[in-house]
Amino acid sequence: MSDSTIMINKIQTDLIKWFDNHGRSLPWRRTKDPYAIWLSEIILQQTRIDQGLKYWENFLREFPDVKSLSMAKESEILALWSGLGYYSRARNIYKAAHILVSKYESQFPKTSSELLKIPGIGPYTAAAISSICFGEVTPALDGNAFRVYSRLFAMSSPIEKRSTIKDIWTLALPLISNKSPGDSNQAIMDIGSTICKPKNPNCPECPLEENCISRRSGIQHEFPVKLKSIKIKEIEKFYVLLKRGEKYGLIRRPKSGIWGGLWTPLELIPEDWELAKTNKNIDESNIKYLKHLLSHRKMNLYFTYWIGDTFPENKEIQWFSEQDLKRLAFPAPIIKILSEKSYF
Ligand code: ADE
Repeated sequence: MSDSTIMINKIQTDLIKWFDNHGRSLPWRRTKDPYAIWLSEIILQQTRIDQGLKYWENFLREFPDVKSLSMAKESEILALWSGLGYYSRARNIYKAAHILVSKYESQFPKTSSELLKIPGIGPYTAAAISSICFGEVTPALDGNAFRVYSRLFAMSSPIEKRSTIKDIWTLALPLISNKSPGDSNQAIMDIGSTICKPKNPNCPECPLEENCISRRSGIQHEFPVKLKSIKIKEIEKFYVLLKRGEKYGLIRRPKSGIWGGLWTPLELIPEDWELAKTNKNIDESNIKYLKHLLSHRKMNLYFTYWIGDTFPENKEIQWFSEQDLKRLAFPAPIIKILSEKSYF
C-alpha cells in the first residue's frame, strides 16, 4: 500500500470512529427513511438544528409519508413552513411530493443522479439522502463541508469556482467509507458545525488534525480561499475641450498612474466645473456623459466644450491642429468621445 492510500484509509477510519463516539445525537439519525431524511435536509438548509427540529417533527406528524404529503394543499405545506422563509423551498416540497407519487411509485430514487431530478434537490441534498439512506459512496458538500475539506486539502483556488468544487469532490470521495458513507458525510457536517468553524477552528479537538494540510502549516484560518469581493470605487471626472481658432488644447497625463502619458482634454475639479457653469463657460445642455468600467473603478466621465475666449489658467495645455491629433495617444473613452462626429 502506498503512503497516500494508508493516509486515506486512516482518515476514513478516524472519521467513522469519531462519529461513533462524538457525533451529535439527532432524531433524524435514528431513521433511514428517505422521506424523513429528505425533510430534515431541506429544513436544515434553511435554519439551525435547534429551530429546525420542531418544524421537522410537525411535518412528520401532519404528513408521515410522501403519499399523505402529496394529498396536502400547497397552502398547508406553506403554513407548516411558515417562519422558515424562502418559501420556494416549501413549494418545491409540494412539487416533489407529487412527482414522487406520480413518477416514482411513492419511493425515493436510490441514487444521487436520479434524486437530482426531483424539484428542490440539488447536489448536496441528493448526496446526503443517497449516502445516508441507500449507502451510495459520494461526498455531500454543503458550505460546512467545503470549509472542512478546503482546510484539510489546503485548497488554494477559490471555493466559488466550479473547478475547485470538482477538485474537492474528487479528493473527498476516497475519504467516504464504503460501509457507512452517510456516517462519513455526517461526521464532516458535525466537524464543520462544532469544530472547524469559520473563525477560531478548534483543531486540537478535530479527528482530522494530524492529516490536515493547512493545520500543519498553521494556516487553517486562510481557508476556504474566496474570490476577493472587489469594492468598486465610483469616481467622477469632468473634462472640457478647449478650442482656440483651429487648434485644440490638451493635457498630457503624468507618466505614472491611470492613463499614464496619454492625452486628455483639460480636466476640471468639480468646483471649477460648477463655476464654469455659473459663468456660462459650459453649456449645461451640451454635456456628454460616458460610463467607463475598470476592474476596480466605475468612472463617470463628463465632457463638454469650453465656451469663450478666456481659458482656464494652466501652463501644461498644449495646442494641436486636428491633423496633429491623429498622432497622439488618448485613453479609450476619450477617443470615443472625440470621435463622435457631432462633437468635432
Ligand atoms: N445539516 C444538514 N444535514 C445535517 C445532518 N444530517 N446532520 C447534521 N447537520 C446537518
